[in-house]
Amino acid sequence: MSRSAPVVPALVLALALTACSGGVHGTPGGSGVRDPYFPKAGNGGYDVSHYDLKLTYDPDSRHLTGTADITARATEDLSAFDLDLKGLDVRAVTVEDRAARWSRAGQELTVRPHDDIDEGATFRVTVRYAGTPMTVTDADGSREGWLTTADGALALGEPTGSMAWFPGNHHPSDKATYDIAVTVPKGLTAVSNGELTEEETAGGRTTFSWRTGEPMASYVATVAIGHYDVTRTTTDDGLPVYVAVDPARAADSRAVVAKIPEVMEWAEYNLGPYPFSSTGLIVDRADDVGYALETQSRPVFPSAVDTETLVHELAHQWYGDSVTPKTWRDMWLNEGFATYAELLWQEDQGGDSVQEVFDALYDGDYFDNAEANEAIWAFPPGKPSGAAHISDPPVYWRGAMVLHKIRQTVGDDTFYDLIQGWAAAHRHGNADTAEFTAYVEEQVPGKDFSGIWKDWLYGDGKPAHR
Ligand code: TRP
Ligand code: ZN
Repeated sequence: MSRSAPVVPALVLALALTACSGGVHGTPGGSGVRDPYFPKAGNGGYDVSHYDLKLTYDPDSRHLTGTADITARATEDLSAFDLDLKGLDVRAVTVEDRAARWSRAGQELTVRPHDDIDEGATFRVTVRYAGTPMTVTDADGSREGWLTTADGALALGEPTGSMAWFPGNHHPSDKATYDIAVTVPKGLTAVSNGELTEEETAGGRTTFSWRTGEPMASYVATVAIGHYDVTRTTTDDGLPVYVAVDPARAADSRAVVAKIPEVMEWAEYNLGPYPFSSTGLIVDRADDVGYALETQSRPVFPSAVDTETLVHELAHQWYGDSVTPKTWRDMWLNEGFATYAELLWQEDQGGDSVQEVFDALYDGDYFDNAEANEAIWAFPPGKPSGAAHISDPPVYWRGAMVLHKIRQTVGDDTFYDLIQGWAAAHRHGNADTAEFTAYVEEQVPGKDFSGIWKDWLYGDGKPAHR
């Protein structure tokens, strides 16, 4: 039986299982991991260690065919578990190579394996699927998921877009390694995260095999398909640099792309050792995307790239990609740090000092309009006002101001130790805001940070004192 298995709604399944006795001991894993902003994101009951994705895409028909081979470990006895998948048609699901029953409701793909899975057991679930992947419009109105570009497609996943192109445990708390192989019509290129391990053409199609050996959150996984000028170099330290630029953006991007080695060196000096096995970037033509994204090891720029944004997205490799938020509430640990890195770069280049920027932000004359100057006080960075606001100005700017308050309190030497130490302490892991404040207090025992946390990190409105 490999055709569509009977559809059993999760609730009916749960009731049926409760009624069972004897050998059955597992219960269904949860449909989410209780993220305060995206309660259905991710799933309970298991941890993914590896995704092996095989995708075939044809830009003319916009048709995607995929096989997702997912290796996971059960964290409880499981009779069923969910994967997140939005749109697309599921063709077949197996668990440990045996056909599994499955059903779909919204973004939840509920899988009922033939046999229960014991807590602690490693298991492999394979999902075969196909269809035209969706572009997702998020709570904040931004477009992500699977995007059509001038000559192909681009996958962007922050915060929840990656479930539009592969089934998985789509929450930042469950990081995994990835093999992503993308087959496209001959003449096109497919770029993804990590290192290109193989490129093979047969029967008029080319398969590009990419490998990410360090843990990656699914929201920073990417695939870019189209025509690109590809440049492969290495830094002085021998780190591979893979750069793919849409030919129509080549002239606009050249000068900034040439700065990658310099920015990498600056970042390693200031933030600590680079956490991944390769670097680079992708410059595409996705006109309806208004943001760059820190896709792991290979940030994406939807049109041209500028130096400040390059610094921002490369800084995210330390803060966001290597040290990943435990929940979407901890977003300022990404954006506050990446914004602060931009300001540090500017300061080091002889531009405004971070203190000058901080003062202008506090005085309300940093941006050229009153609304933008006001917007940074809308809510505290440690507690965004809703799912639609996790990428709003307070997360970036007031988040950076929290870091600057710490720098004022401890001085430059200790501040650099702190930001490097934070990246080192949670390298390739996850962390939340409470862990950050505890870390700072632990590292600098003689100082009182309580006012910074109370007024700058968690307090409503503009703090009364700068
Ligand atoms: N995280 C991205 C960055 O700062 C920006 C981003 C991604 C974004 N998705 C978004 C900004 C949605 C606004 C809305 O590098
Ligand atoms: Zn950012």
